[in-house]
Amino acid sequence: MSESHYEQFFELIARRSALIDLREDKQTSLAEVTRPIDWSALFGNDNPVEIEIGCGKGRFLLEASRQRPDINYVGVERALKYAQHAKERLQKGGATGVFLIWSDAAYLVDRYIGEGTVEAYHVYFPDPWPKKRHRKRRLFRNEVWLRGLIRTLNSSRGRIHVATDYTEYFYEIRDCLTHTPPLVYQPPDSLEIAHIPTSFEMKYRAEGRKIHRAVYQMDST
Ligand SMILES: C[S@@+](CC[C@H](N)C(=O)[O-])C[C@H]1O[C@@H](n2cnc3c(N)ncnc32)[C@H](O)[C@@H]1O
Repeated sequence: MSESHYEQFFELIARRSALIDLREDKQTSLAEVTRPIDWSALFGNDNPVEIEIGCGKGRFLLEASRQRPDINYVGVERALKYAQHAKERLQKGGATGVFLIWSDAAYLVDRYIGEGTVEAYHVYFPDPWPKKRHRKRRLFRNEVWLRGLIRTLNSSRGRIHVATDYTEYFYEIRDCLTHTPPLVYQPPDSLEIAHIPTSFEMKYRAEGRKIHRAVYQMDST
């Protein structure tokens, strides 16, 4: 997509974006939110911020926020139907310390997230767009998202966690992140982070599909 296409797309998405506050049960148009988002003011604490992109029905966020109350979790979801589903699941589960953002990941990261303010991104089962003519829609082909990822991650230790069942896309993501300095691949046993399966992971595991996972970390050396 050219810069002018992004501008047009962002104008459209700006009208379809909202911050969802679970504790207050309140939805605020993103256009009314001051940028960059002040995470400390939003959460009322200085805990590290971790963002799940494409949070779907919110299973990861619910479990992660239970296991790690010392982390401020944010879920980003472009489909309103899933954002609503995630909201209900999190509220029912009592995870009111989580914020949801109904928006597009590239738009949100580019326009609303401050430099070095994110400890980790989680991207689980991103849409693989299997048809050749649709592959340009893949998140890891979106240069605005990739640029924003590097700018917004904590520059000395920020991480991105990815998982997919789609082998060809996994190789593409691995290739993309390996060639996106200063990200460096982390062997799975080097991180003490519990693995939380998402809804898609549970479904695919039940079908016996192989799941690929990888973690990359910002290298400050
Ligand atoms: C295949 S589903 C996976 C959902 C969840 N991560 C899981 O593993 O169960 C992909 C999700 O990403 C969302 N999504 C796709 N592109 C997105 C984007 N650019 N920004 C935000 N969400 C996006 C879709 O609406 C969908 O809910």
